[in-house]
Formats: sequence, structure tokens, C-alpha cells
Amino acid sequence: MSIAHGIKQLGVLGAGQMGTGIAFVSALRAKVPVLLHDRSKDQISKGLTLVDKLLAKDVSKGRLQFSEAEEARSRITPVDSLEAMRDVDMVVEAVSENLDLKRAIFREFGTKLRPDAILASNTSSISITKIAAAVIPEGASAASEQGKAASGRVVGLHFFNPVPVMKLVELISAVQTSKDTLDRSRVFAEACGKEVATSQDVPGFVSNALLMPFINEAIMCLEKGVATRDDIDKTFRLGMAHPMGPLQLADFIGLDTCLAIQQTLYSGTSDSKYRPSVLLERMVDAQYLGKKSGRGFYEYNDG
Ligand code: 3HC
Repeated sequence: MSIAHGIKQLGVLGAGQMGTGIAFVSALRAKVPVLLHDRSKDQISKGLTLVDKLLAKDVSKGRLQFSEAEEARSRITPVDSLEAMRDVDMVVEAVSENLDLKRAIFREFGTKLRPDAILASNTSSISITKIAAAVIPEGASAASEQGKAASGRVVGLHFFNPVPVMKLVELISAVQTSKDTLDRSRVFAEACGKEVATSQDVPGFVSNALLMPFINEAIMCLEKGVATRDDIDKTFRLGMAHPMGPLQLADFIGLDTCLAIQQTLYSGTSDSKYRPSVLLERMVDAQYLGKKSGRGFYEYNDG
């Protein structure tokens, strides 16, 4: 018997580039109504503008009927509080990479959302097991039935940027994640049009444990003057057929995000191969955060 994801309504927390992309593929591909929340109204409005733009492009390219685009758009509703998400069957958190912030959010999910809702994090590197421990109700032990039920519904669902384009979702099981949560999350990711690769809950999972040392080495090559920015990127675009060189990719991901992931990798493993380069730290100190801030290793006119 095939497994159903059973998600009749989804909550997405965080309307940045990842949260908006997740809302978009869920509404368009999985055809699930989405409640989108961000503490910044400005961010929500930017997110919805992006959704409109993406749908309009699909219509203009003949990939979508106008009516289908309208239906997908009508499935996304902005909400101004977590309380409004109390009936969702699943929530995906896509806020910035900060363990304390994520733990606080998941604690709140634990008290405000349905006790059987799946609680997914789009984290790029933070331990899902640590996040899951935050939802155990006060007074309950981790090993109690109540503790196991609460933390068993936490899972890592790691999308890639740009979410509408990248075909992968990395599925991460916490130590506590139940089989039902994992199975339904996989089916949901597939309904969003994605292929799924699973990873254990290690710092950075498979994707960023491999990608971040590569990006960091590229930044160190630049720092040491081994090659110019353009030659480093050209080497990978033309020599290895990567769509972007590592410096352009770092700008695209966000240099603050790259630094946060590298810090999680380094603190989680104590392995010097993950130590962030000084140049990356200085770029972030200077608020040169990459494409989103108009300047990173490259300059961008579109902010
Ligand atoms: N949102 C939605 N769609 C986008 C987009 C965005 N931000 N940027 C580009 N696209 C779409 C375009 O609209 C276009 O769609 P179409 O073919 O339907 O018209 C398609 O992508 C190709 O775009 P372009 O022709 O403008 O440009 P490129 O061919 O150069 O492709 C790219 C752009 C898809 C971003 C490509 O350069 C690429 O694949 N880069 C690598 C991206 C990557 O590695 N992402 C993973 C980052 S790591 C991560 O996310 C994990 C995290 O934990 C750090």
C-alpha cells in the first residue's frame, strides 16, 4: 500500500528566498494550501511578489495555464502569527541559521500547533536531534511516551536554492524521528516535484559537509592570491561544468549563511578543515553578504 503524506494544510515559517520557494513548490506542485508567516511584513510582501513573478513566468512560457497559476497563488495565504497555523498538518521552518532561534521556534511549535503535526526544519547544517529535543513538553522526559511522541515528529527537510529549480531535497532523521514522520516527509517532498536523498544527522549533513570546505578552499585560494576571482570561478564553470564557480555560488547562497554553516561544521567536529577563512569572516563583518546585499565577491545592481 502506498504511503500518503496526508498534508492538507502546510505552514511555512520564514518568507526569505528559501521559505518563499518552499511555499511556491508546495502550492504549485503538491497543490497544498500554505500559510506563510514571517515576523517582517516587508519580507512577506517581497516573498509574495516573487511568487507572482515565478507564476507569471511559467504562464508566459506556456508551462502553466493562467487558471492553474491563479489557483496556485490562491493556495498561499500570509498569516501574521503562529496561532493562525494551529491546524496545519506540517510546518516547515526556514529562518536564519541559529540554533537558539530554531530551538525557541520549535518549542513554540510544540505548544501552539497540533500535537500530531510534522515539524520540519529547512536547516542547512544544525543538528535536527538538538532541535527535536526542544519540543519535549516541560516536565516530560525524553524517553516517556509523551516525550517520544513530541520529538518523533521533528525532521530535517533541506531544500536547495533556488527551490523552484533545484531538484533535490535532503531528508534528515533526528535520533528521535519516527518512521511515520520520515515516510510522510519523503512523500511530501516528492509531491513537491523533488527527488530525495537521505543523510544522517551529522553537522552539515552530506550536502554542506562537502560543499562548504570546497567554497572555503576557493576563498582561501583568493585570499592567498593563488588565482583571481574570475579564474577560480572559470576553472569550475568551464573545467568541471559547474553552473556557477564556488565564489559566485557563495555569493548566491549568502556569505553570512556560508559562514554560519561553516561555524556549525567547525564547532560540531573540531576539524580544522571546516575552519572558516579570515576573508569570509571579514566580508561578513563588512556586511558584504553576497547577491542579496548587492555586494559579495561580485557586485550586483539588482540588490
Ligand atoms: N528563483 C526561481 N527561479 C530561478 C531563480 C530564482 N532565484 N534563479 C534562476 N531561476 C530560474 C530561471 O527563471 C530559469 O528558469 P526557466 O528555465 O524556467 O526560464 C532557470 O532558473 C535558469 O535561469 P537563468 O537562465 O536565468 O540562469 P542560469 O542558467 O545561469 O541558471 C541557476 C541559474 C539555476 C541559479 C544556476 O546558475 C545554478 O544552478 N546554479 C547553482 C545553484 C546551486 O548550486 N544551488 C544550491 C546552493 S546550496 C544550497 O542551497 C544549500 C544551502 O544549505 C546552502
